[in-house]
Order: sequence, then structure tokens, then C-alpha cells
Amino acid sequence: MTEKTILKALKGETQKVPPIWMMRQAGRYLPEYRATRAQAGDFLSLCYTPDLAAEVTLQPIRRFGFDAAILFADILLVPQALGADLWFVTGEGPRLSTIQSEDDFAPLKGKDDIHDKLAPVYETVRILSGELPKETTLIGFAGAPWTVATYMIAGRGTPDQGPAHALREDNNALFEKIINLLTDATIEYLDMQIKAGAEVVKIFDSWAGSLKGEAFEKYAVEPARKITAELKARHPGIPVIGFPREAGDGYIGFHAKTGVDCVALDNSVSPEWGAANVQKDGCVQGNLKSSHMVTGGQALVDEVRHIRDTFSKGPHIFNLGHGITPDADPDNVALMIETLRENQ
Ligand code: CP3
Repeated sequence: MTEKTILKALKGETQKVPPIWMMRQAGRYLPEYRATRAQAGDFLSLCYTPDLAAEVTLQPIRRFGFDAAILFADILLVPQALGADLWFVTGEGPRLSTIQSEDDFAPLKGKDDIHDKLAPVYETVRILSGELPKETTLIGFAGAPWTVATYMIAGRGTPDQGPAHALREDNNALFEKIINLLTDATIEYLDMQIKAGAEVVKIFDSWAGSLKGEAFEKYAVEPARKITAELKARHPGIPVIGFPREAGDGYIGFHAKTGVDCVALDNSVSPEWGAANVQKDGCVQGNLKSSHMVTGGQALVDEVRHIRDTFSKGPHIFNLGHGITPDADPDNVALMIETLRENQ
């Protein structure tokens, strides 16, 4: 069997047509997703019901023929498995119990005590590894410790990650306990996803951009390095994608510093900059602006060609710079893929 295109890119191969998948490809912009979510009742029930989570993971593969499927779950399932309360407020986003003191931290579980709660996620991976088309790669994922910590500390999404930065400065010992627990738990979580059939794992550090200088090195680079090194020690050759979103200059050298096989770029950097500064060190993923999935038209076609051609001299996985939004038009997703694969 010829090797899957995503795995080729992750090994450093340059391909005439880059493989493609899309962050949040299973989501509310798809009517079939909304129907399955309604059947599950709510978002978290969907995450924890393996048959339905596998179904929504497969929907964008059936509809569009993406080269990879990403496990349907959420980065906030790990804090929940560690004992945090988690719920979603419609139209607003996630809410969690907060961690502000040693007393809030003390009742959390250990890194090895998360698997009972997360067992349905591993079951979803097992179902998917049996059901995906043979050419489709299965990607598992977790949130990076810093990004997950920002939600655990504040109890919600925050525009500037203020509460997490405040704890980092005012009680660094407690902050580091949280980061270390999340680093260790993430290793165990991704290890189980790989054992269940994930062929690649991605570490989402959505708020990496708010860490600067030494803090970026300590809390974005170092946890990604530890997680990657331990997973590769346990599973030689397992490819890892890192996504230090909005890291700016922090993207430079991220492959070498962390050992990841691919660095995902958001759309705050141009493809020219990414090719010159990041792709020179290995595979890159990205970085079409999600808003093109809403607006479509010739601008979408032009930008898909521009990104494809700019990254054409090295290993590249085509993707958006961030997740697709609920107001996107599925026809624009189809147009993106058709344009990417033109003249194949
Ligand atoms: O990419 C995929 O399709 C895989 C599944 C996935 C989801 N969330 C499903 C989801 C992945 C990889 C995530 C990652 C995630 N979750 C991140 C990191 C990536 C990023 O987007 O920055 C973060 C920060 C979260 C936390 C989270 N989950 C938020 C802030 C929200 C609410 C925002 C919203 O759109 O309402 C979620 C909910 C969520 N996670 C949805 C999906 C499909 C929407 C839930 C719904 O159906 O209502």
C-alpha cells in the first residue's frame, strides 16, 4: 500500500499536491453535525458517546474526502478527568471550577487516574481506526499545558489570559504544579490515544502567543518538548504536530527546540514568512484565514493557490490558520479542496 499523504509530509516529503484537513472540520457549519449533536443532547455527551463521536468525526471525511480525520473530543476533557467541574454555556463557551489556591489544587487527581473518565475517548479512537478509509490518517490531540491551564485557572476563556498570567507571577510554585500535572496527564492521555490507533498527535497551544520571552520558553516550548520526547520514547516514530498559535518569532526554531515533526502556523504570519523562517526546518501546516470559509469566491481561490505555491518547495499540510466557524458555508470548503487539488 502506498503511504498516506499526511504521513509522507510529516516525514519531510515535498508533494506536488499537499494533503489537507481542517481544524474543527466536524462542527456546527455542517447540518449533519448539528443533527448528531441534537441526538446526543449536548456537546459533552457527544464527546463521551463513542458511536456518535466517531460518526461526527467521519462526516467531513465522507462529505469532502479530507486526507486526515481528527478525533472528535475537546481539550477541556483532561481537566474534567482530573476532577475539575466542566460545563458549556450556550453562546458563551466553556466554564470550569477555578484554581486560585493550593486548596483548589489539592483535590485534583493524579496523572494515572484520568483513564476511567476518558475511556470513551479511547473507544472513539478504536472505532475510527477500524472505520476510516485506508488512505485517511487518524489524528489524536490534546491541549498544551499552558492553554489548558488558562481555562483551569480562570474557569473560562479569557481575552488576554490575565488570571493565568497573574497566578504565574504571584504564586509561581502553584502555577508550575498545574503545568507539571497537565504535562504528565497529557502524556498519559496521548499515549492511550496512540495505543488505541491514533497515527499522529497534535498539541493545541491556542494561547501560546500571550507568553513572551523566557515565559514562552518555560511554559510553551518546554512542555511541548517533554510531551514529544516521552511519546516518541514510548512509540518510536510517532509524528507530533505542534501549534503554538500566534507565537510570532516563537515559531522560529520550534521544530528543533521541541522535537515536533510539524509546526502549525496561524494566519497572523504570511506564507512567505513561514516558508523562509519555519518550513526551512521541517513540515509546516496551515495557514488559510478561516473567514475565507464564510466569504468564498475568487479571493478564496487566489489565496488557496498562493499558500499552496508559496509552501511548494518543502513539506506542507494544507489547513486553516484556526478552526472553521459555525457561519462557514460547506460549499466554500469544497471549493478550497477542489482548488488545492486542481491540475493534480
Ligand atoms: O478540530 C476538530 O474538529 C477536533 C475537535 C476539537 C474541538 N475542540 C471540538 C469542539 C478540537 C481539536 C478542539 C480544541 C479546542 N477546544 C481548543 C484548541 C483549539 C482552538 O480552537 O483554539 C480550545 C481552546 C477548546 C475549548 C473550547 N471548546 C471552546 C473555547 C469551545 C467553545 C467555542 C464554541 O465554538 O462554542 C469549545 C466547544 C467545541 N469544541 C465545539 C467543537 C466542535 C463547539 C461545540 C458545539 O457543538 O456547540
